[in-house]
Amino acid sequence: MHDTVVRDLDRARSRTLHLTDLDEPILVAQHDPLMSPLVWDLAHIGQQEELWLLRGGDVGRPGMLAPEVDSLYDAFKHPRAKRPSLPLLPPVEARAYDREVRGRVLDVIERTPADDLFTAGMVVQHEEQHDETMFATLQLRQGPPVLLERRALPPGRPVDPARVFVAGGPFRLGVDAADEPFALDNERPAHQVDVGPFWIGRVPVTNRQWREFMADGGYERSELWSPRGWAHRAEARLDRPMFWTAEGTRRRFGMEEEVPPDDPVQHVCYFEADAFARWSGARLPTEIEWEKACAWDPAAQARRKWPWGTAAPTEDLANLGGLGLRPAPVGAYPDGASAYGAEQMIGDVWEWTSSDFGPWPGFTPMIYRDYSQPFFGGDYKVLRGGSWAVAPTTIRPSFRNWDHPVRRQIFTGVRLAWDA
Ligand code: AVJ
Ligand code: FE
Repeated sequence: MHDTVVRDLDRARSRTLHLTDLDEPILVAQHDPLMSPLVWDLAHIGQQEELWLLRGGDVGRPGMLAPEVDSLYDAFKHPRAKRPSLPLLPPVEARAYDREVRGRVLDVIERTPADDLFTAGMVVQHEEQHDETMFATLQLRQGPPVLLERRALPPGRPVDPARVFVAGGPFRLGVDAADEPFALDNERPAHQVDVGPFWIGRVPVTNRQWREFMADGGYERSELWSPRGWAHRAEARLDRPMFWTAEGTRRRFGMEEEVPPDDPVQHVCYFEADAFARWSGARLPTEIEWEKACAWDPAAQARRKWPWGTAAPTEDLANLGGLGLRPAPVGAYPDGASAYGAEQMIGDVWEWTSSDFGPWPGFTPMIYRDYSQPFFGGDYKVLRGGSWAVAPTTIRPSFRNWDHPVRRQIFTGVRLAWDA
């Protein structure tokens, strides 16, 4: 367990350092009001690691930074839009601070009993979530590319039929420590739920399908949209996915390219996803349906660790880790199919669900008490499955992400569902 956690911490840090191995002006600039300057994420990663692993989660306990500097990295105190005007640590100091924290953390971990390593695993996932946030910041940034594709993705294939059937019946939703020792608080506890029968898309919705929606007046027909979605569409002047150009190309990490027709659509908000589903004669899945289609094995009447079984994710099973810089075409991972035959549930794009973010019955906050709880009951929709940018240690069938229904700078896509 120690070796695994230390290796995961290492891996997360390599990714962080790779994503911030950039000239100082790029690191200190705010590339979009929705995002922090990268240099804020860089020091916040170390500040949170220090708080949870060296200060027992108590901000009152003296730390390595002066209190007024430490508090700059409290996400609740400073909204993202205000972060560039803060006297943040310059990149060189932020890296040195992260390094110093990590050195002390490794000493602490060595002396920690194996069954007490949850907090270290949580810190890995916190860093990796910020890595994905930094990918989103770099996607929003204007200017020549600074990230390169470092992995070729497998080719797609035609998938037919386009949807799979999930029979009704009870299923075990969520996980306990015995199943997933590093699952975060909002994924627990495991409990039985009864789910009616439904159909779910075998793969995510593609750019080609999205073009058909646009050509059929999808953005102009109010009857396809929820009232709130329609109002938002007008106000935000939505008429195509974010980063698509009027010329029919898209911008991706500073490159302009043809929109690949067979890739999952990316950068659509919940309201667009909901309208697309209505246009298709479908709906979005609930997050409970989504998790069942992903993890339940009806023959064994048991959950699988991954949709495909117990093997750790590899390049042949899922598009994770950020090296591809984009989702893979649909049909690229036949071996990654779930028991029901749904593919690409893990990786590629976060999938909007129709569910509001709330606690499972019996929810207990983890040491990072404000990770989930302040967001329950807020204006958030749940996203499932992770994107191409998430690390394998920060995604599971039970993993729950959330965001405002208007957001589309994250790597979001759509999977349809139908009543049976
Ligand atoms: C779970 C992705 C919604 O980025 O706001 C990072 C993760 N929480 N630091 C976010 C998080 C605190 C969180 N999301
Ligand atoms: Fe954070």
